[in-house]
Amino acid sequence: AETRTIELIVNGTPRHVAVAPRTTLVEALRDGLGLVGTKIGCNQGQCGACTVLMDGARINSCLTLAVMAQGAEIVTVEGLADPEGALHPMQAAFAENDAFQCGYCTPGQILSAIACIEEGHARDADEIREYMSGNLCRCGAYPNIVAAVEQVRD
Ligand code: FES
Repeated sequence: AETRTIELIVNGTPRHVAVAPRTTLVEALRDGLGLVGTKIGCNQGQCGACTVLMDGARINSCLTLAVMAQGAEIVTVEGLADPEGALHPMQAAFAENDAFQCGYCTPGQILSAIACIEEGHARDADEIREYMSGNLCRCGAYPNIVAAVEQVRD
């Protein structure tokens, strides 16, 4: 298929990547830009492993065509720590609360958790669970994930 070059602002930096019409955003990030922190689980919008922020809103990057993200601001897990390497507060809270085991779902969980607080859906544990329900964890770390979100909220 015909490729074209799009521009994405990834973690604050303008990046150019060649994509086909059906290339998904997660493919553009992983294969085109080498940002493999964003994971592919189901590849059909069911698991949340591919969650990133696009213009501040969380999205499933496996369901988003790269061409639809032309010019957008994308935040991936690689953009969370500060340039000196200090963890984002949500990353630190996940570590402190043992909010992962295998870690595969963790980048998506953390981006969703940040959006949960920024969008004001972290008032209590039930609301956090509801907001985070699209991010599956096969290790069952859910209680610890909720604890991490509550720690950052407070
Ligand atoms: Fe995108 Fe599962 S890989 S939701």
